Amino acid sequence: MKRIGVLTSGGDSPGMNAAIRAVVRKAIYHNVEVYGIYQGYAGLISGQIKKLEIGSVGDIIHRGGTMLYTARCKEFKTEEGRKQGMEQLEKLGIEGLVVIGGDGSYRGAQKLTELGFPCVGVPGTIDNDIPGTDFTIGFDTALNTVIDAIDKIRDTATSHERTYVIEVMGRHAGDLALWAGLAGGAETILIPEEDHDMNEVCAKLNRGHDRGKKHSIIVVAEGVGSGVEIGKKIQDATNFETRVSVLGHIQRGGSPTATDRVLASRLGAKAVELLLEGKGGRVVGIQQNQLVDHDIMEILDRKHTIDEKMYNLAQELSI
Ligand code: F6P
Repeated sequence: MKRIGVLTSGGDSPGMNAAIRAVVRKAIYHNVEVYGIYQGYAGLISGQIKKLEIGSVGDIIHRGGTMLYTARCKEFKTEEGRKQGMEQLEKLGIEGLVVIGGDGSYRGAQKLTELGFPCVGVPGTIDNDIPGTDFTIGFDTALNTVIDAIDKIRDTATSHERTYVIEVMGRHAGDLALWAGLAGGAETILIPEEDHDMNEVCAKLNRGHDRGKKHSIIVVAEGVGSGVEIGKKIQDATNFETRVSVLGHIQRGGSPTATDRVLASRLGAKAVELLLEGKGGRVVGIQQNQLVDHDIMEILDRKHTIDEKMYNLAQELSI
């Protein structure tokens, strides 16, 4: 393989730039040319593709976002869109592709693999919801952003003796809420993977109040429902002064943590290694601090699960 491409797709995540840098530098180190595909699959279809040099990825390791831009592309879900994308790759003599993104991005890579084009997926999403890897690029940074917010909100929650509902990202996955809730000492964590009973949520708040607790923090993953509505229900049922904070897209930005930079560098380089070994239709990951790779279809067929033990621990510690 003498020429590969790299793209980022779906929701951006801090550390994607570090992964792009690793792909480019690792490939060039092995005398392989790298082409950057801009705006994800949309740019692949329209041919927004430029050769990247060593210097193209200088000064980005510490930056959030993605220098290649990103998009959620409906057109690539069609046969015609993929055909156009394949033509662009063939035109430039690109022989393999690294796709950095989440579940939707992996689906695009799987489709290209079916067409006989070698692709390797690198898990980049703040949701930490990709099977076959303990962590995804950006999760640690987003988690630290959420913790910073919770700590700040706790100060004012204490001063005013209020109940706070903090809504964090995660349409289908509760990892961010679970880890942030555990690390932030939340009283209750609501995630899409676990059923909850609002009566019990309120009863717990009342029990805490009776014990002399002055404030409470409830972390809700957006997939559970609107934090605003949950806050209203709590206020109505308990009469405790309740405020809601929806953290939103600040969770997706910011300089990646050292952990994310290192993870991104390792995973990006590993993806190139696989392509150089002639392996496509794979995804890379990290399990017990060892780099691993899996068949992309196997990963897409698996359902993301949360760490039940961690969920139970959070319950035990927040009695
Ligand atoms: O998948 C990452 C993610 O940040 C989810 O947690 C969130 O639900 C979604 O993207 C938001 O997407 P958008 O930025 O397109 O609104």
